[in-house]
Amino acid sequence: MSVLRSVVTGVGGYLPDEVVTNADLTKVVDTSDEWIRERTGIRQRRRAAPEQAVSDLAVEAARKALAAAGREPSDVDLIIVATTTPDLTFPATAVIVQRKLGCPVGVAFDVQAVCSGFVYALSTADGFVARGRAKCALVIGAEIMTRLMDWTDRSTCVLFGDGAGAVVVEPGEGRGDTTDQGLLGFALRADGSKQDLLYVDGGVSTTGQVGKLRMQGNQVFRHAVVNIAEAITAAAADAGVLVEEVDWFIPHQANLRILDGVAKRLGIDEKKVVVTVGEHANTSAASIPLAMAQAVNDGRIQRGQMLLLEAMGGGLTWGACVLRY
Ligand code: UT7
Repeated sequence: MSVLRSVVTGVGGYLPDEVVTNADLTKVVDTSDEWIRERTGIRQRRRAAPEQAVSDLAVEAARKALAAAGREPSDVDLIIVATTTPDLTFPATAVIVQRKLGCPVGVAFDVQAVCSGFVYALSTADGFVARGRAKCALVIGAEIMTRLMDWTDRSTCVLFGDGAGAVVVEPGEGRGDTTDQGLLGFALRADGSKQDLLYVDGGVSTTGQVGKLRMQGNQVFRHAVVNIAEAITAAAADAGVLVEEVDWFIPHQANLRILDGVAKRLGIDEKKVVVTVGEHANTSAASIPLAMAQAVNDGRIQRGQMLLLEAMGGGLTWGACVLRY
């Protein structure tokens, strides 16, 4: 049986120039390089320049992904941007990206699922691409998390960074089995009863202000490993594969201890885990495509390999995708 699959044909990442080290943050809050490294694995993060908007980061990543796919902005008929730090309340950042890239009239919208945004966006794109309704989709995760920080709160401001990652997704013919290239399965979850664990304390229709990120980190941590492991197992079942068959595990980069915990729980070899949290910190929706771009560009991820993506974040939301690259 011939089926249409959503195939990732190009990947690109962009990090702003400014590096902020843990030592730099000791001048801002009462913290230490040792505490941050030991509790999170983070050594540094990037910060966007004041004149950069999140669409600027997204456009840089998108250009690289399009070049890798051998496509032009004129080919793009669907743009989905996963972001929690949009340029404006409206229009959607995806529409601003469309204008800045010079893409023709098509479909463009944002997905708001915080750190799970990229997994949600990729699964959403599949609904267009695998039904023949988009021929060249850009799926982007882009964030300027440093602008959501309360710089007096040491328990959150040391954890996040800025960046963007993008993939080009195009339809490809498959046989309907696990040898197909493309997205093979996914699982998405949300539990609004856990909102108080991780949220921003402002918004258009409540305070009229942007607000700052608030997190009960140790509570989020408690849910992370269990939730993520369940979503991975469900996504693997949806794809019809075993977790052992996965070549590369590309987790959301929030905390090295969470990455290790999930890998251990599912028996994933640590050599198969792509880790960027040390250099990028938590870039929310950007972290998975940024990590993917790094491992593709340094030659670790090869065509035909099976990838497992997972994330968890505010909402709480979480999810996982299995795809053959
Ligand atoms: O991407 C979205 C999902 N988010 C996550 O996955 C984040 C999940 N949570 C975490 O990664 C961890 O919970 C944290 C890294 C945020 C915190 O690590 P923890 O081991 O859970 O520490 P804790 O919150 O229980 O705090 C332990 C201590 C506290 O001091 P006391 O009360 O024991 O005296 C904090 O005040 O560490 C203190 N602390 C700090 N000390 C130095 C908190 N932040 C800092 C800091 N520097 N930056």
